[in-house]
Amino acid sequence: MEFYDVVNARRTIRDFKDEPIDMEAIKRIIAAGMKAPTNDHMRDWHFVVVNDKAVVRKLINKIPKKVSDKRLEFIIKSWKLEDECQQKSYYDAIPKQYQMLLNAGCVIIPVFKQEWDLLQPKDLSALNRFASIWCCIENIFLAATAENYGYTLRIPLGNEQEYVKSVLNFPDEYIMPCYIGIGKIAEDAVYPEQKAYVLDDRIHMNGWK
Ligand SMILES: Cc1cc2nc3c(=O)[nH]c(=O)nc-3n(C[C@H](O)[C@H](O)[C@H](O)COP(=O)(O)O)c2cc1C
Repeated sequence: MEFYDVVNARRTIRDFKDEPIDMEAIKRIIAAGMKAPTNDHMRDWHFVVVNDKAVVRKLINKIPKKVSDKRLEFIIKSWKLEDECQQKSYYDAIPKQYQMLLNAGCVIIPVFKQEWDLLQPKDLSALNRFASIWCCIENIFLAATAENYGYTLRIPLGNEQEYVKSVLNFPDEYIMPCYIGIGKIAEDAVYPEQKAYVLDDRIHMNGWK
């Protein structure tokens, strides 16, 4: 696929066919991730790839399996999601968090080395390792798209990070920014409408006008 075709085709997918995935493709996708820019030249990133369903089930066990309509309404309200297009996307996404990772052909846990408290940064550059791995993650998303797979992601909430660490045994100084699921896109996958914007309103030539 041509670069801009890939960029335009990339969407977050939460409906997968429950089918295995080609591990050679996963290697190419991770290799694309490893080409991303990195703040300290080190690319100290590792990827735990889980395609054994029993391990996936254990890994995602802390994610709520069902979300009632009442709970969904409560979340949308308490997160102050007031935009209609945004709300629709969350109504679709929140109830699918467990199932999307379960049905993906594999779950990848990217991890990066972090030696100080990420949540108490003293300045912006203290977040550089976190920023760098997100460059890597975007490359993974684009590469998965170019391979004609869908991808999804979830940010670990509450104690999910510690739990995943205990299941997968990655070292204490490494942090997972997110779960990534990659898989074959279901025929009836939902594509929530993207929020519209006018590009020219977002570009400010020679100063904010
Ligand atoms: C930093 C970040 C965090 C996100 N967290 C989640 C998440 O926890 N669960 C989820 O299903 N999607 C998550 N997403 C995906 C967004 O919901 C999605 O990118 C957004 O709705 C736009 O849709 P699109 O990616 O299909 O264009 C996240 C995306 C980003 C960049």
